[in-house]
Amino acid sequence: MSAPVFKHSTRFTLKNGDLLLFPWLDAQNACFSMDSVPEDMGSLNAPDKPGKSKLLFAGSVQGKRIIARGVRLDAEHSSPHEEMKKAVSSAISLCESEGLKRIAVMLDNDESGLVHAAHDGAITGGYRFDAYLSEKPDLPVVFAAVQKGLRGIRNRVDADSVVFEYCNFARDILNEPPNVINPVSLSEICVDRAKDAGLKLTVWDEKRLEKEKCGGILAVGKGAKFPPRLIIGEYKPRNARKHICLVGKGVTFDTGGYCLKPASAQMGMKYDMGGAAAVLGAALAVAELELPVRLTVFAPLVENDISSTAYHTSDIITMRNGKSVQVDNTDAEGRLILADALCLACEKKPDMIVDAATLTGACCVALGEDIAGLFGDDEEFNSLLVQCGRESGELFWPLPLHMPYMEELKTTVADCKNIGGKWGGALTAALFLKKFVDNEIPWIHLDIAGPAVKEEPLGHLGKGAKGFGVKTLVRLAERV
Ligand code: BES
Ligand code: ZN
Ligand code: ZN
Repeated sequence: MSAPVFKHSTRFTLKNGDLLLFPWLDAQNACFSMDSVPEDMGSLNAPDKPGKSKLLFAGSVQGKRIIARGVRLDAEHSSPHEEMKKAVSSAISLCESEGLKRIAVMLDNDESGLVHAAHDGAITGGYRFDAYLSEKPDLPVVFAAVQKGLRGIRNRVDADSVVFEYCNFARDILNEPPNVINPVSLSEICVDRAKDAGLKLTVWDEKRLEKEKCGGILAVGKGAKFPPRLIIGEYKPRNARKHICLVGKGVTFDTGGYCLKPASAQMGMKYDMGGAAAVLGAALAVAELELPVRLTVFAPLVENDISSTAYHTSDIITMRNGKSVQVDNTDAEGRLILADALCLACEKKPDMIVDAATLTGACCVALGEDIAGLFGDDEEFNSLLVQCGRESGELFWPLPLHMPYMEELKTTVADCKNIGGKWGGALTAALFLKKFVDNEIPWIHLDIAGPAVKEEPLGHLGKGAKGFGVKTLVRLAERV
């Protein structure tokens, strides 16, 4: 992948910018000081309408070709931060098409945290998955030209860089095609990355999974050429305040198994490891940032395929905690692999558990592609996670763990079955997971099936995987 370089400095000269971006909070309030405007440009006025941008100047300044754009960050239904990310991201696209090499975002100070937003817009908004293109995009350098108070933000910028880079790492492993990424290759990639970040990584192969009685992971994975894996990442600093367990669904491709998805619904199923990518990206970032929190991450990895060895509907399997499950639908595979991983997480007796999974189409129906579903019984913990999401530009909305629907998971021949009835699919999936979590441990389940990926560009992020969840989970680790 490629991403722009981001720099910040008080020492702005025109050679730092071919494209100057002048932001306004609204019609009157410029985020930059008028003193910083080169004389040749004359006086600059804000775009007329909220949320709009306009060309302010195009011409020669001190012998250099300069384009200046004004942008108003007060768009309806948005925040100045989200608008800043979008403005930087579209400035990058403009540079690509116009052959410009540098963007300067003109800011007087960082009182409203706009440097962070510009940085996010540059690194995650300028991300391009170009691994298979013969011609790579030529991306500009993004330069935050901040007049005052830079010293205070230097550490923040360094820490943000780590988070944005692991967000892009999560996107890379998702965007890579399924003929490259499978449980075996993905675990190898993660072993490499973990060494650099200081995260201790163990990978359980199929034999170990057998020994450890992970019946869910083994059942789903047994139809594929590449056998299942379980990645266990541990980061245990001396000064840890709390212990968080993260669990992520890692289905490297979901054909549906014998309950085969139609061809059109298989499109996009390489992203069915969005939960694993989120928790792995977050764990790598937390370890590299040396945050004072203990973290254990579990990413069960399988390919859900068809073959003579694949599992069937009506199979009865036994999970890590001894519970038996009747498989009524081989396409409801995510919950089966998460069940074993959640049991393992509970055995660690952490202070809290968060799982993330592209679990149900029903959750996309309920909340659309911008918002993830959040399930959990601990109101305070739920609010904390929603808040961490809001601060990271990722949206989560609470959905209920409605206990009467547990009835739908009943069967006469096993402890439960893996699907409920026709309605409320996101809820019955969450209730299935709840059966594998100790009631005493605060637990949140995030159904990220909607926001994990965007086939059309959304906000500041381009097409493809969004790395959704990485930023929120790192923030959670900072906050507990
Ligand atoms: N990976 C899918 C969920 C999904 C669907 C994610 C669409 C992203 C977009 C999951 O494994 C699945 O197939 N779930 C089924 C469950 C059903 C069989 C109860 C679904 O949602 O249809
Ligand atoms: Zn499925
Ligand atoms: Zn799936």
